[in-house]
Amino acid sequence: MSEAADQIFAMLKQSAQSGAPLYLQLRKSIEDAVNRGLIGPGDALPSERDIASKADISRVTVRKAVQDLVKGGILVQRHGSGTFVAPRMERVEQSLSRLTSFTEDMARRGMAVRSAWLDRGLYAPSPDEMMVLGLSSNELVARVARLRIANDTPLAIERAALSASVLPDPAGIGSSLYAALETTGLRPVRAVQRISAANLGGDDARLLEVPSGIAGLHIERISYLASGKVIEFTRSIYRGDAYDFVAELRLSGPGEEGRP
Ligand code: GLP
Repeated sequence: MSEAADQIFAMLKQSAQSGAPLYLQLRKSIEDAVNRGLIGPGDALPSERDIASKADISRVTVRKAVQDLVKGGILVQRHGSGTFVAPRMERVEQSLSRLTSFTEDMARRGMAVRSAWLDRGLYAPSPDEMMVLGLSSNELVARVARLRIANDTPLAIERAALSASVLPDPAGIGSSLYAALETTGLRPVRAVQRISAANLGGDDARLLEVPSGIAGLHIERISYLASGKVIEFTRSIYRGDAYDFVAELRLSGPGEEGRP
């Protein structure tokens, strides 16, 4: 029997007097063992059968407790290899006053960045893209959709749209969209960003490796060239447990109230 199992059973014995339903006692024991660092991120949980036989409870009860903890993001299940304590997210603090790229933000923190391509190509624009990018129906839009990954943790899904005249070869951007725009003198100098709450579900949750229903952030960035022309329209989904957005606020001067 593993050390992790011993830690969990020690916690379970302590809560046995509480009179709470068994699955809740077990759930709490596992949670306490994780919170106290007795079992750490990445540690394997003993098998359902081991827990059930050692604690003398049914496998159904064990499954119910484990499923609850998976839903809450405390444990993760990997098909074929078992159940593990979820990796702890190091939160990224992101300033809202600088126009930087994902690659720059992560590199500044010493994190290794990579992306997985979800889509890249030229398409007929959607009504939203036509409106924001100022495209007509016979022009094309370049779409670049990526899962952005830092230190092997998926942090965001970013779907960028640009006029095809700005980015005729979306497959050729390499690892950074802003670096590619910089080479053609089209890197944005200003952006307006809108952040709203979103519950992550379906494919988004799966890609970001979080339980379905967990909190996330929907971020829309419209960025501009110095001329005022819109260059980028990006809609992103960020993990809510990974980001703190920080803005510095100043008392507005006379006559500035309400100015964006
Ligand atoms: C940020 C922004 C996106 C922008 C991206 C460019 O993440 N939210 O709007 O497209 O940076 O990042 P990179 O240059 O690494 O591709």
